[in-house]
Amino acid sequence: MTQDQEHKEETGVANQTGPEQSGAEEAPVKKPSRRKKQESPKQLAGFEDMDISDEVLRAVARMGFHEATSIQKQTIPLMMRGDDIIGIAPTGTGKTCAFGIPMLEYMDLKETRIQEVVLAPTRELAMQIGEELEKLAYYIREVKIAVLYGGQSIGRQMDQLKKHPQIIVATPGRMIDHLERGSVRLDGVHTLVLDEADEMLNMGFVKDVCRIIDRIPPTRQFVMFSATTSQDVMTISWKYQHEPIQVTVRATKQDKPQITQYVIPVTREDKLDRLLYLLDSDEYGRIMIFTNTKFMAHRLNATLQKNGFDSEELHGDVPQGKRSQIMMRYKKGKFPILVCTDVAARGIDVDDVEAVINYDLPQENEYYLHRIGRTGRAHKHGVAFTLMSFTESVRMDEILKYMKSKPTDLKFDDAGILRKEDGEPFFENI
Ligand SMILES: Nc1ncnc2c1ncn2[C@@H]1O[C@H](COP(=O)(O)OP(=O)(O)OP(=O)(O)O)[C@@H](O)[C@H]1O
Ligand SMILES: [Mg+2]
Repeated sequence: MTQDQEHKEETGVANQTGPEQSGAEEAPVKKPSRRKKQESPKQLAGFEDMDISDEVLRAVARMGFHEATSIQKQTIPLMMRGDDIIGIAPTGTGKTCAFGIPMLEYMDLKETRIQEVVLAPTRELAMQIGEELEKLAYYIREVKIAVLYGGQSIGRQMDQLKKHPQIIVATPGRMIDHLERGSVRLDGVHTLVLDEADEMLNMGFVKDVCRIIDRIPPTRQFVMFSATTSQDVMTISWKYQHEPIQVTVRATKQDKPQITQYVIPVTREDKLDRLLYLLDSDEYGRIMIFTNTKFMAHRLNATLQKNGFDSEELHGDVPQGKRSQIMMRYKKGKFPILVCTDVAARGIDVDDVEAVINYDLPQENEYYLHRIGRTGRAHKHGVAFTLMSFTESVRMDEILKYMKSKPTDLKFDDAGILRKEDGEPFFENI
């Protein structure tokens, strides 16, 4: 623990870079002390110097990790000593564990109040973070985690809350709902995490997120993570973080997601046929196809099913029970093709998605990066295809300028064969 952190904890007044914190009348919350480290069971490169407890190290080994990723190496020690952080690192490089590991180190297992909160933009992501934290807490039996998201019965969530979870993972809307009902109190929270921070602070969410932050004691540790950042992140940082440290892991060498990007010019009328051609190649085991609207996701999925493909759809019009079930089945590899809107663009971690296809180009540049980042995760290799109609080419140029990357152009010839720039067929089998 640093002197700064001690100062923060003892007095409840940290050196602030932003304006006075709201909710300052609430009693300062003391962060519990870290659990004792014992003999570590296994050498895990990069993790062993971090003073991580035996139970969490064993869980990390059980998850099959051998070495900490760059964002983990750089932010876990900072978060362990209590710093407020903005952590920016490429997609699929382990940001969840970067905040999840330190979260489990500071927990008073006897305390009945909620101690730590993670906010995430989508229901599926909230559930996934809950699951990753459960895995990290595998050897700490007393840890209870509640996941609160819209579309699930409030009663079921009340039952979870009655068990006095130490950790809550929530979407902002449902968290506000519980705060208003009085079923959640945040006066004992010492750690707040915003995952996908830039998305959480955009227009759709920022009011709710600020209302939640205002209910948490100002002495809390506040960390934000994402693969992309925005001016809103800096504004909220200035307002609510204490001497924040920004860690940016650039997409170079070992931290660069291995994604080969292809752009295929198509006419609007041909788009569907071109998509069917890509799917017919049978080259990719697991595929995510992104559309811009719920309607298009639904229509496209229906068409794919009619054409004999084993696909499902995931978007805001699918009832929550079914959404959860589809995500679970997709993660388990029960069907190969997921047609989805941007609800699945951020944070979703499905093992071995081999190809991402942009059926529509996203409206925002960041979303291109997040969408294609569903593949090429954790050092695996993936491909991303964008089917670009003539009217989308201007949008594509903007995206590529933002991405600072040069995808490979592919073209369909007059006979409908997809060819590389050198004229060779792209797929050998069709
Ligand atoms: N040190 C590690 N070694 C190997 N795999 C890891 C390590 N840390 C995390 N992973 C795994 O890598 C995958 C991607 O992690 P995670 O979902 O946290 O990425 P992310 O950086 O949050 O990506 P995104 O920006 O898309 O949200 C997960 O399956 C996770 O379990
Ligand atoms: Mg993530």
